[in-house]
Amino acid sequence: MAVAHPIQIRFERYDGQLAIAPATPPRFVTPEEKPRIIERIKHLLKERDAVLVAHYYVHPDIQDLAQETGGTVSDSLEMARFGHAHSGKTVVVAGVRFMGETAKILNPEKKVLMPDLNAECSLDLATPIDEFSKFCDAHPDRVVVVYANTSAAVKARADWMVTSSIAEKIVAHLHAQGKKILWAPDKHLGDYVQRVTGADMLMWNAACVVHDEFKAVQLEELKLLHPGAKVLVHPESPKAVIDLADAVGSTTGIIQAAERMKAKEYIVATDGGIIHQMRKRMPGVTFIEAPTAGKGATCQSCAHCPWMAMNGLHNLLAVLENPNPKNEVHVDPEIGRRARIPIERMLEFAKTHLPQMKGSGDA
Ligand code: 13P
Ligand code: SF4
Repeated sequence: MAVAHPIQIRFERYDGQLAIAPATPPRFVTPEEKPRIIERIKHLLKERDAVLVAHYYVHPDIQDLAQETGGTVSDSLEMARFGHAHSGKTVVVAGVRFMGETAKILNPEKKVLMPDLNAECSLDLATPIDEFSKFCDAHPDRVVVVYANTSAAVKARADWMVTSSIAEKIVAHLHAQGKKILWAPDKHLGDYVQRVTGADMLMWNAACVVHDEFKAVQLEELKLLHPGAKVLVHPESPKAVIDLADAVGSTTGIIQAAERMKAKEYIVATDGGIIHQMRKRMPGVTFIEAPTAGKGATCQSCAHCPWMAMNGLHNLLAVLENPNPKNEVHVDPEIGRRARIPIERMLEFAKTHLPQMKGSGDA
């Protein structure tokens, strides 16, 4: 069996220094073994009363499995909502660690499993709790709003948690109440929300290694080659890229925008994994990945999150066959109790302000 070696991903820390974190690709699945593994996973999900909650960025095989077994493929807000509302005793999260932790915080009585617990996120890595706490302590007059892509400890220090599908609405709501905001961690999403709402926002410094690489000049060139194409952009992208967008939104927001606009061609500036769902929902429409670097240049992620890519069929099967503690998500109960408050605040707000949100990938 070929052993996959970790790739080293560079990311910028909050203090501007570069750091490195590993991402290990999952074991390769041969076409011969694939049907047997898929059938076995389906069987074990049923046997263990488990539900598979997947993000749009994971491999298409896992997205399809989630949909075929009564789970969901969705953005981070709906992943949290779905896992919470589902009656299954076990939630299997195919995504990155903060998504598993959010599921555990909301469901401390359930078993939460992940194919690989080392699936990180550069935003989470760039926000260590001690430094973040000092930042909050230095600005006690501000409401602390953190993005979902953070550790349980960072959430426990926050007043509100938001995801990209609801950040703008929650910040606008706080701004209307005259509140000043301390925002962390994604600087591009923070800048975007600040521009749209006009709120007073003090920013942490961090970026997503995937979205930070989209390039405006190359996107303009691509638009010239596809004059009819509409551009869909996730707000974790740099401002110059967002400025070229026909629609800006969370992953679910991007799919819904494409369904609304009814164009024949789209250029998509987010992780390319989402295109699987877009093709399923909009057959006959052309989807093109937005450029991450100029011709011949190298890029770190090339529009595919290296940590989302750690979810594979072999490690998904392994966690169901033998849910050993290595792959079970644990959150310190006291941190979990405090982190739950800002998450539930968001979910409560979402009930009235985003009642129609559903995983766009749900069949
Ligand atoms: P969404 O909430 O839009 O799915 O974003 C999650 C994420 O990690 C994007 O990079
Ligand atoms: Fe984090 Fe970016 Fe990967 Fe999303 S795509 S999980 S923000 S590194």
